[in-house]
Amino acid sequence: PAVSLIGVPTDVGAGRIGARMGPSALRVAGIVQAMADFGIDVRDCGDLHGPDNPEQPAVGGFRHLTEVARWNQLLHEATLAELRAGRLPLMLGGDHSLAMGSISAVARHCRDTGRRLRVLWLDAHADLNTATLTPSGNLHGMPVACLCGHGPAELTGIGGHSPALSPQDIRQIGIRSVDPGEKRFVHELGIEVFDMRFIDENGMRHTMAQALLGLDERTHLHVSLDVDFLDPDIAPGVGTTVRGGPTYREAQLCMEMIADTGRLGSLDVVELNPALDVRNQTAELAVDLIQSLFGKSTLMRTPEPPRRE
Ligand code: ARG
Ligand code: MN
Ligand code: MN
Ligand code: MN
Repeated sequence: PAVSLIGVPTDVGAGRIGARMGPSALRVAGIVQAMADFGIDVRDCGDLHGPDNPEQPAVGGFRHLTEVARWNQLLHEATLAELRAGRLPLMLGGDHSLAMGSISAVARHCRDTGRRLRVLWLDAHADLNTATLTPSGNLHGMPVACLCGHGPAELTGIGGHSPALSPQDIRQIGIRSVDPGEKRFVHELGIEVFDMRFIDENGMRHTMAQALLGLDERTHLHVSLDVDFLDPDIAPGVGTTVRGGPTYREAQLCMEMIADTGRLGSLDVVELNPALDVRNQTAELAVDLIQSLFGKSTLMRTPEPPRRE
């Protein structure tokens, strides 16, 4: 399908500044040409313009709630417009709080068009904190909770339908850092989590086969790729690195297996922080992986459907 890039240059939800430069770094790494090169119709819609980062402490458990809400209202509308135009929105982040705006729009579009939704959350973190559970107040640690209806009305109400998402629609992959209260909440909500221990024991192939089970022609697949999903040895350009993530090969296989489903309908690429990167290598890696996600492969091959194994 035709792809629309939406730049979301903000870090109001993050603990450190810099992710606002993510969209530029991805463009400098050649994201438009990389997709056009193998025949994808890609349009860069440019950047959204939201509030600056006021760099204030948390109030009532949240840092920058007003600013995060504003960015997400803007992104919700922009994402919905591209979906309604029949295009595949690709969010260039920006910190991970932006998933509230993008995924609420995707969920709304699925409700409007009678589709089922599956969200693949590729991340080192569960991002399931609430005002009382959070150790930081940073809203990039809370999008999953807010999308599931646990959060302030300014955020849970984006798109006019709360909860936007059911925990059953989510599969989390690569998780290796969960705060104590967050851990209890993951189990309470019953989110299916394929953590690094699971990947170590079962391999990425089996992990993805499980995470992709049950997709059909009516399923819209949304991928929310937090760049800190990747091992920091290959992806240093993020604010919240956690050692022991997927290798380059594991990440490639993960992307290829998603591509093989043919169900990809929208994508967030978030948390890239160029101020922490080494000669833009993390942005270049992200572009490389995005190519695989959109079906670039070494040889022509017949994709196998995901199956129980
Ligand atoms: N769990 C930590 C927090 O709530 C880190 C969250 C990191 N999230 C992210 N999207 N990088 O502050
Ligand atoms: Mn502009
Ligand atoms: Mn993360
Ligand atoms: Mn995240």
